[in-house]
Amino acid sequence: MDKLIINGQKKLNGDVYISGAKNAALPILIASLLSKEELKLKNVPNLFDIKTTEKLLFAMGVEISKTDSSMTLIARDIKDLHATYDLVKTMRASILVLGPLLARFGSARVSLPGGCAIGSRPVDIHIKGLEAMGASIKIENGDIVASTSGLPEGKLVGAEISMSQVTVTGTENLMMAACLAKGKTKLKNSAKEPEVVDLGNCLIKMGAIIKGLGTDIITIEGVEELNGAEHSIIFDRIEAGTYMIAAAMTAGELRCIGIESGKMTSIINKLRETGVEIIESDNTVTVKSNGILKAVSIETSPFPGFPTDMQAQFMALNTIAEGVSEIKETIFENRFMHVQELIRMGADIEVNQNTAVVSGGKMLEGASVMATDLRASASLVLAALSAKGTTVIDRIYHLDRGYEDLEKKFNQIGAQIERVN
Ligand code: EPZ
Repeated sequence: MDKLIINGQKKLNGDVYISGAKNAALPILIASLLSKEELKLKNVPNLFDIKTTEKLLFAMGVEISKTDSSMTLIARDIKDLHATYDLVKTMRASILVLGPLLARFGSARVSLPGGCAIGSRPVDIHIKGLEAMGASIKIENGDIVASTSGLPEGKLVGAEISMSQVTVTGTENLMMAACLAKGKTKLKNSAKEPEVVDLGNCLIKMGAIIKGLGTDIITIEGVEELNGAEHSIIFDRIEAGTYMIAAAMTAGELRCIGIESGKMTSIINKLRETGVEIIESDNTVTVKSNGILKAVSIETSPFPGFPTDMQAQFMALNTIAEGVSEIKETIFENRFMHVQELIRMGADIEVNQNTAVVSGGKMLEGASVMATDLRASASLVLAALSAKGTTVIDRIYHLDRGYEDLEKKFNQIGAQIERVN
């Protein structure tokens, strides 16, 4: 299993180019199932989860061709409407094939995603929404088996759906299903994340009729079929936020290039509160830090609030920043797996249910630690970059799921990271 060896306390200076967003690319690749024509994508990040999605779509019969970060997908002859357990268990986002397969082919069998390190992560809202559109859904041998055979012309029917919680992939699944349903669908309490908006913009280019993207009510007017399109994936605001915190924690000066800062307001505002200087220009955000940081409390919430995917990274910053801070995780029930590992490096953190109290001002020390989930791994990298001495991070396949060329990008700006297996 690969490990990262990181020698800490190197100031990070220079330019880092931000890749396409994992959480926009995954649903957009899967949206190719909705049309028999070519979907041409640019700025697709080279990540393990993207490879898993390609495997899943290829197994169904989607023709895929790739050059660097461009990808073309054609779902002309789909022969297999089944997302098997061995693929779904490695990537929960596979649940996103359910809506498109039902909408276009009237049938789907998708392994019920299990829980994961950060929580139980049910998909009840996805299922309730598809049933509201007329699908008949049952659970059989661990699979979600869905069909529209009982419906006129076997087509989903538009419906008014109020989602009981803000769910990113729930909104995406139902929005994709509604594109080919008969009539109008209204999704209430929709997710407003930029990645959901990017998917919606791509669907509109394919011929979908969608209004209200970025608000909590999205309406979709079903159409007969969707066409091909060309689309460039939005930048990854979580990757960008991770590099910004790295600069803050190493008293560096970093230009993050390829960013729309208006989509990172909550992250930028919280970082400014720690005392770092942040300069926003058209597609670049520059972070300057003198290494003197003030601890800042955060509470995660759906967009435009502070993203749960940045919680672990910000906690790493608070462990070395001056003062006591509170970190409240409101989205997932078990997203503090990084706490014990940070404590091994000298952090002072106490967890009480979904709140962590961080007593900062510590000088972290290198240690052997273990990654448990994608963003927890990122927080360990950040801690290691600022720690005295050497850190060894095990099980870094988690990192490869969501960070393209991580050690290459960090070493180009002054870090000392080596990958060993
Ligand atoms: C997406 O996960 C992201 N993944 C996650 O990113 C991200 O942390 C999360 O949204 C929140 O922003 C992708 O987009 C591929 P949710 P998702 O449905 O859609 C509950 C990363 O690190 N819920 O918005 O699975 C759920 O339990 C990953 O890149 C239900 O109860 O998250 C959670 O408490 C990690 N029933 C809350 O809603 C449902 O049917 C939000 O989950 C669906 C969700």
